[in-house]
Amino acid sequence: MSGTPASGTTPTGGPPSTTTAQPAVRFVDVTKTFVTGKHEVRAVDGVSLDVHAGEIFGVIGYSGAGKSTLVRLINALEKVTSGSVVVDGTDITTLGESKLRHVRAGIGMIFQQFNLMSSRTVAANVAYPLKVAGWPKEERAARVAELLEFVGIADKARQYPARLSGGQKQRVGIARALATNPKILLADEATSALDPETTQDVLALLRRVNRELGVTIVVITHEMDVVRQACHRVAVMEEGKVVELGDVYQVFSAPRHGATRRFVATALKDRPAPDVVERLRARHTGRIVTVGIDEASGSSARLTSTLRAHGVDGTVVYGGITEVAERPYGSLTVELVGPDDAVERLVADLRSFTDVVDLGTAARPLDDPSVVVHADHPEEGPDPEHRSAGAETIGPAGGVRPFGSGVFGGPGGSVGGNDPAAGRHIVDGGDER
Ligand SMILES: Nc1ncnc2c1ncn2[C@@H]1O[C@H](COP(=O)(O)OP(=O)(O)OP(=O)(O)O)[C@@H](O)[C@H]1O
Ligand SMILES: [Mg+2]
Repeated sequence: MSGTPASGTTPTGGPPSTTTAQPAVRFVDVTKTFVTGKHEVRAVDGVSLDVHAGEIFGVIGYSGAGKSTLVRLINALEKVTSGSVVVDGTDITTLGESKLRHVRAGIGMIFQQFNLMSSRTVAANVAYPLKVAGWPKEERAARVAELLEFVGIADKARQYPARLSGGQKQRVGIARALATNPKILLADEATSALDPETTQDVLALLRRVNRELGVTIVVITHEMDVVRQACHRVAVMEEGKVVELGDVYQVFSAPRHGATRRFVATALKDRPAPDVVERLRARHTGRIVTVGIDEASGSSARLTSTLRAHGVDGTVVYGGITEVAERPYGSLTVELVGPDDAVERLVADLRSFTDVVDLGTAARPLDDPSVVVHADHPEEGPDPEHRSAGAETIGPAGGVRPFGSGVFGGPGGSVGGNDPAAGRHIVDGGDER
């Protein structure tokens, strides 16, 4: 039977499982078509990708992109139309139900709506998969206590889900998903019903699950901020296809596809939108330039020294530096004041080591060729429930006056005038299903 008690694998002890060359999940030219009446929808369209063992892999896309369908293929909740899905070395597309059960036992899943049983206590919810897997009663109790301790809600064991906050409910969901020691955890919009702070807590818990237990995690989200905070690599989906795939830091610093650029811009909010640029030019007489800040170029430190070397004054008027995959990244928009030729040489010098967008002056304005407009385009945005209210308000608090604080170039924090909470929404996610 699949889920006999795995001795020695405790949530608090033991090293992470070793990463092997074998991918945790491999999609080989996978297509999934739904037919409803005369309608045919290619929810997943020719996807080939590997999820490496031991990583946190993000799948991002707008509503209807095919994200949920893609992950539901991993535990065979959906069957492929063509192609194959290989989980931990086993091609699951050809397996019968009994063997599939065995594969599924190695995969945990958490959901946006938590999916807890409202008539059972927290402890009973977490014990349920153990019961199904045939664990003896005493071992179940010990395992549940250990799991609740790990996710930080040991004191809630006897409560019913209705009495818990969203964050606590998701902790129960995570404890339940981990009960039988799965190697893979699938998280479908697991933080989408939570407020930004609780989202951060739950993402931190998922990182711990990954780091301390060695669980491979696939995170599905429509929020690039979740990818920024939690994932190692990310796939961007659009209309069933993977349109971009790569290391999170790389994808943030050089997004290639239009959808990716829009997602990145919503998470960073570091570049001034065209109307903000106009106000900046009106307010400042100097030359306005946006300078990319990343780890590889050392541009944060070099910006200061380059200004000094050219005898040009630089004032930060907009921007933001944040952490992407635990490394500093962002951009600063600076007003440059000095003799014209010195400013010209400075800009050329800056271009030699980082991205520079020259926005000109009020008298000689220049457009940002890479600008990403965050207008509320319903046709390309997520559905209303998923759309982040205010994602288009990229700018200083209130959008008119500069406001902010931070350490110049300091990693981790944000510098500049962007409201970190703007563009998030809170949905009351209290229902059980
Ligand atoms: N069981 C089904 N029957 C018919 N069509 C389906 C079914 N499940 C999904 N689809 C369709 O497949 C496409 C992809 O759906 P999917 O749920 O995978 O998207 P998603 O990226 O998870 O979206 P969301 O962000 O809204 O959750 C959509 O057009 C959807 O309507
Ligand atoms: Mg979905």
